[in-house]
Formats: sequence, C-alpha cells, structure tokens
Amino acid sequence: MWGGRFAEGPSAVMREINASIPFDKRMWQQDIAGSQAHAAMLAAQGILTAEDAAAIRSGLDGVAELYARDGVAEDLALEDIHMQTEARLAEAIGPAAGRLHTARSRNDQVATDFRLWVRDAIDSVDAALGQLQDALIARADEHADTVMPGFTHLQVAQPVTLGHHLMAYHAMVARDRGRFADARARLNRCPLGAAALAGTGFPIDRETTARALGFDGPTDNSLDSVSDRDFAIEYLTAAVQASLHLSRMAEEFVLWASQPFGFVSLSDAWSTGSSIMPQKRNPDAAELVRGHSGRILGCMTALMVTMKGLPLAYSKDMQDDKPPVFEATDLLALSIAAMTGMVESATFRPARMRAALEAGFPTATDLADWLVREAGLPFREAHHVTGRTVKLAEERGIALDALPLADLQAIDPRITESVYDVLTVDASVRSRTSFGGTAPDRVRAAVAAARAARAKE
Ligand code: ARG
Repeated sequence: MWGGRFAEGPSAVMREINASIPFDKRMWQQDIAGSQAHAAMLAAQGILTAEDAAAIRSGLDGVAELYARDGVAEDLALEDIHMQTEARLAEAIGPAAGRLHTARSRNDQVATDFRLWVRDAIDSVDAALGQLQDALIARADEHADTVMPGFTHLQVAQPVTLGHHLMAYHAMVARDRGRFADARARLNRCPLGAAALAGTGFPIDRETTARALGFDGPTDNSLDSVSDRDFAIEYLTAAVQASLHLSRMAEEFVLWASQPFGFVSLSDAWSTGSSIMPQKRNPDAAELVRGHSGRILGCMTALMVTMKGLPLAYSKDMQDDKPPVFEATDLLALSIAAMTGMVESATFRPARMRAALEAGFPTATDLADWLVREAGLPFREAHHVTGRTVKLAEERGIALDALPLADLQAIDPRITESVYDVLTVDASVRSRTSFGGTAPDRVRAAVAAARAARAKE
C-alpha cells in the first residue's frame, strides 16, 4: 500500500508488531459500512465516476459476503482490516478499488470504524442491562414483603425488605445505563473526512457521510478527529462503573450463598461442584463476575495510559486502543448475562433471612424512635434506654419483642404496652414509608414505576 518509497519489505518481527488484523478484524462490518458511505459520497460529489462507484459498491458487498461466510483471513502482510478489505476489493474489481481511498486516510477511517463499533457495543450493553433490570424488578416484586437484615459495617442494622435491596441494584443499573447513553451522545459525531490530520482539498461532503452512518453530524476539528479516543475511554469508564456494581452484587451472592448466611441458594445451572468435596456447590459465576470487574478496570487503565502522553495527531500507539475495548466489552457482556441468570434463577431463603435479622436486635432504632415520639424523651436519652434494653435481651438470649413489659418498665417506667407495636420486624419495615424507604408498599410502588419506565423505552 505504501511500497513506492521502500526498497525492501518489513522484517518478520516488524510485520508482526505492526499488524492489527488479528484483533481489528472484529470491525469488518463497520469498515465496510464506512467505505460504502464514503464511496457513495465521492460519487455524489463527482469525485468518483458513477461507474467506478457502482463497481466499488457491489465489490464491497461481495467482500462483506466473503467475510460473513469465511471469516476475515489474518494476513499479517495486509496489516489491518482496512488494507485487507481494500486488497479483497481489488481482487474483485481491479484498479477501480484504488479510487476508494481518495480524500480519505486510514486515520479517519479507523477513527470512524471504531466509533461505530463502540456505538454498537453501547447499544448491546444497554439492552443487556435492561434485561438485568427486568430480572431485578421481577424478583423484587416477588419479595416486596420478605424481611431481611439491612446491614451497616456488615452488622445487622435495621430490617429491610429483600425487594428493597434488589431495587437498590436496579437504581444503580439505571444510572449505569444513563452513563452509557451520555457517552453515546458525545461519541456520535463522524470523523470521516478529517483525512490524515488536516482535512482534504477534495470537495467532499462530510455531513452526508455522517448522516449515512447514523451520526448526528461531522466532528468539528480534523486534528482532534484522528487524535482522540476519549469516546472509547468514556465508554470504558461507564463499563468499569457498571462492572463495579455487578461486582458488589456478585459479592453479596457469594456471601449469601455461604452456609453461615444461607440467604440464597444458587440454581444448579449457576453453581459448580468440587472435584474432592462432594457436598460443595460453589458460586463460581458470581466470583468471576467479581473478578472480571478488576480486569475491566485494567482495560480502562491501559487505554488511558496509552493516550496520556501522545502528541497530536495520530501515533501508532493508538492502534493499541482496540484490544482493551474489545476485552472489556466481552467481559462485561458475560458478567451482565451471568448476573441476570443468577438473579432470575436464585432461590431466596426468607426464613434464614428472618432468623438472621431477629438475632440482631434490628428494631432497636424503632424502640428509640418510639420513646421519642410516644414518651417524649430526647433522642440521646432514648438511645441510652434502648441500649440497656438490648443489653438485657442479649443477656437473656431473646429478641426485644420477647422481653416482658415489667422488665421494660424496670428500665424506664414511661414504656407502655403499645411499644410492642413497633418492636416486630414486620412493623418496622411497614413503618418506613418515606419516599425511597423500605416499606413493602413503597417497594411495590418502586417496582411499578420501574416497570412503567421500561415499557416506555
Ligand atoms: N491499524 C491502524 C490503527 O488501528 C490504522 C491506522 C493506521 N494509520 C497509520 N497512519 N499508520 O490505528
């Protein structure tokens, strides 16, 4: 492609270090689409004859068919997907293939292909996250009344409902989707026509190619167009954040599936056995989701570090932009699918959750609040009285609502029979009716709102 100036070919190692075809062949559809849009525009502008343009169009269709059928050959001598496709086109239509690259460089070509690829990746991540939301919504609806310990410091804090806990993840996933949507909106400008770095003297029409490829318009500055990969970095930051949420969810599944917790049992389809311990059911998929988030973070770091010291405009370092983006995309897709499957098929254990909850004096705050509300104590004093009550229950090895009234009144005579209305865990969750609170009715309302939002998409 650039042999005119060279007396001999590259060394074998040069060829290998230089080639991106082993990975950038994943962009073949985007590469063909970009070339089709470019050729059509060149013809419309009178830069290509109608005849050459027609040959290029059907020739590119043929190359696409070939790739779809046989895959893309990894010919290192042809360096990358752009040169591979042009060579295949030349085999099919002869010298007219050489006119396709008029008013274009691989620099604007690769920037365009990569934006298209990342845009497609965002669309499929978004759809997958939507399915995860659906799974969370369905299970939350089922468990709107199921009480479980709410933790702080991993110590039992206050009763919550499992539905509320699952909807917390739904809210995180909703923000993750928002971040991908934001990245998509900023990404959606077309670099094609920036050429190598300075633009071109040919009378091209960048608006037309941009629209043909589904972009909102062309990018503003030719140097920026071929130099920056912030769209890919932004995508990776969104991917990292989404995977961090998945990792926390996975961690909870690992914890909840362990015998001392026993809050959940993962279905056979999402568990593995041990080669030595016959009783084992290990939550490997959840552990790998947790593990993959570290690798996705590594991908983001890799691309940031690749970009941080590069002068404008294009440098070959930028060819290294694709492997981390592809890897992160694959890892994230697997993680979302695995998490969705686990959420859909998990068997939650309400009795275990309730037992763990009741062992932790979770209604202590309710007692303190009752002392403030019904007996007029200042909160600090109510906190103290409640602390003594918990100590007594702990000494006796019983729950707060199992303490006889006489014992409660011995601690503070202002306590009356009606305190028992707030001491049960069910009464506690029912009372948390503030907007965004854990009361079952609130959870059902959140589920309904989430379903409505999904239906409107
Ligand atoms: N394979 C290259 C990449 O992915 C395409 C751009 C090559 N441009 C160049 N000036 N050598 O970045």
